[in-house]
Amino acid sequence: MTTSAARVDFPHVPSPDPTPAAQRDGLLADPGFGRVFTDHVATATWTAGRGWHDTAVRAAEPLTLHPAAAVLHYAQEVFEGLKAYRQPDGSVALFRPDLNAARFARSARRLALPELPPEAFVAAVSALVRADEAWVPEPPASLYLRPFTVATEAFLGVRPAEEARFLVAASPAGPLFAGREAGVTLWISDELSRAAQGGTGDAKCGGNYAAGLAAQTLARSHDCDQVLFLDAREHRWLEESGTMNVLVVTADGELATPPLGTILDGVTRRSVLELAAGHGLTPVERPISVEELRAGCADGSITEVFATGTAAVISPIVAFRSTAGDFAVGDGTPGPHTRALHAELLDVQFGRVPDPRGWRVPV
Ligand SMILES: Cc1ncc(COP(=O)(O)O)c(C=O)c1O
Repeated sequence: MTTSAARVDFPHVPSPDPTPAAQRDGLLADPGFGRVFTDHVATATWTAGRGWHDTAVRAAEPLTLHPAAAVLHYAQEVFEGLKAYRQPDGSVALFRPDLNAARFARSARRLALPELPPEAFVAAVSALVRADEAWVPEPPASLYLRPFTVATEAFLGVRPAEEARFLVAASPAGPLFAGREAGVTLWISDELSRAAQGGTGDAKCGGNYAAGLAAQTLARSHDCDQVLFLDAREHRWLEESGTMNVLVVTADGELATPPLGTILDGVTRRSVLELAAGHGLTPVERPISVEELRAGCADGSITEVFATGTAAVISPIVAFRSTAGDFAVGDGTPGPHTRALHAELLDVQFGRVPDPRGWRVPV
């Protein structure tokens, strides 16, 4: 495979031991999130000498890594998350995979990993979905796809690895916050930060998530569903949640969200900003302070807050907790813009409405 290849093949080598159909259908009836996996993975290998090679879709098996593999020591790893959606005519479509492909390449650059050409990313994901098509559930569930690249070189020294492996795993998934459709509560983390200027906050790398786990545990201990991170310098400016971007709706019709820089450039965030005008909202990327959030929820100038992500779709945020006290958003139930944007996004993803922007990509 060369980086200029217009079409990259991931030839399918079928698993010799696929899950029996009856067992698969049983798993698809209630997949939960992130615990059921399909029969295959897409894979490619990279070495400094040869570039990307050995592309295939093959049986999902445990990886064999040398104990000195760089990823195990220095966390040289990047990943993505996107979904395949069953369409009304039985076909399957991805949602804006070009944005995930571009972000994956940016993340790889930041982590000094080899960049997979975006067309190879989309080819790998599509080939895997075609191979495991029977694992794509019916709505409202979907097939969550997890592309990732890990540094596999066995070398105990801190420098970019000269060997890496790219894989895509697939996992049929229901809603991330099952049972929490009425909204989630966030813990405002005024001590532990996720990212700082110049760091890796805008890359999708495992280290960011490891660094966020303690804050997430703290959030849980305060009976919250997730954490809301603030900026690392002043602990004052909203950043994002553990796996979601955060947006607020103001009484004067703004759909405001923190600017990019130290946060993930979410595909769902971007999509919702692009849909905003159709909902009578003006999309604005601007700093939002925790004081503005608290005061706005109290005086009604902030009417709704929600979080966006591939896994979470759009999650209404109905309350916040913090060391400075708790507060509710609006009347503590999902607001009308949150519900309308959620419905429109799902309708586009599941092919229930026309797609003038070309966001659906058939596999
Ligand atoms: C830290 C973080 N922020 C935001 C998001 C939302 O991004 P997207 O909408 O592309 O899934 C995610 C999920 O991928 C995430 O992990």
